[in-house]
Amino acid sequence: MTGAGAGARDDGIVWSEEVARLEQQAAEALAGAKSSAALAEAQTTVLGKRSALTLAHRDLAKLDPPARRAAGKAIHDAQTRLETLAFERAEALAAVERAAMLERDRLDLTEVTRDEVRSTITRGRLHLVNQTRRELEDVFIGMGFTVAEGPEAETDWYNFEALNIPPAHPARSMWDTFYLELGQPETVVLRTHTSPVQIHLMEDEPLPIHAVIPGRCYRRETADARHLPVFHQMEGLVVDRGITFADLAGTIETFTTAYFGPDIHSRLRPGYFPFTEPSAEVEVTCTICRGAGCRTCSWTGWVELAGCGMVDPAVFQAVGVDPEEWTGFAFGFGIDRCAQMRHVIADMRVLTENDVRFSRMF
Ligand code: PHE
Repeated sequence: MTGAGAGARDDGIVWSEEVARLEQQAAEALAGAKSSAALAEAQTTVLGKRSALTLAHRDLAKLDPPARRAAGKAIHDAQTRLETLAFERAEALAAVERAAMLERDRLDLTEVTRDEVRSTITRGRLHLVNQTRRELEDVFIGMGFTVAEGPEAETDWYNFEALNIPPAHPARSMWDTFYLELGQPETVVLRTHTSPVQIHLMEDEPLPIHAVIPGRCYRRETADARHLPVFHQMEGLVVDRGITFADLAGTIETFTTAYFGPDIHSRLRPGYFPFTEPSAEVEVTCTICRGAGCRTCSWTGWVELAGCGMVDPAVFQAVGVDPEEWTGFAFGFGIDRCAQMRHVIADMRVLTENDVRFSRMF
């Protein structure tokens, strides 16, 4: 046996000590391997054809049969234990190495910077009409108004009668109406303007009222460059003590310059609405020629934007407000029309086409 003294070869005790020593060395070599590759090398060294234990087999021939058998068994048992050890060590190293590899290959998504996210993700935005609505609300909130809303389906009473437009009154033809087939007893319509919300507010809210009411309206007409069958209005209603036509004119002018810019002004021309008296049409400086005169404003320098007037006493009576104590004004204008004028949009129909090339411009 290699490394064992010649005189000790027939000594079974020396043999078993020698095998134990070799096993111990081999076990340390296996345990000390820090990687699968190092372990494979150590395995060859301590268990391969040229390993000390394998070579020891050759020396067994020199022993007498009983000692040979005992020593052979000792070597075989040692090799079996070392093989088990090598197998376990290989498994442990493989597990560690697999974990390290997974860690290395992990995609750490949290490491993407916010700028990288911004450059790859396109953020959505509000439609131009909603942006406009919010800006208009802000202008009026800045002037002390509150923002209210009302239903889009109204009974005939709210949309017409309470607003001093009795059935069969010729003024009804001012609004081409969509009727809902809900049967008797009440006629229900898609509101043709936001004015019915004036009635709801005066019925439900304590006076005084200083409110704007944005919302969707419906008229039975064909879309063209300046009209949509579904459009948006912003109503204004002020009911207080001592309100005059000057308050109305001042509110309109303040709003006009705040929203369109300091070079765009307003003027009032006599008009007619059944629910206001006196009534007026609001015109503002043409935003295309800025007052110089062009095709859009028919060479007048002014374009029509809104209707307005002092709340008619008949309307106050319909909701039980005392016209001797309270006065008020109302106005109503198109939100879509404001967007069209402010951004110089030739044809309003682009607002409903959902073409993202248009939406992205705002
Ligand atoms: N409701 C009217 C319309 O749709 C506008 C208006 C509102 C006029 C309030 C006077 C007062 O045309």
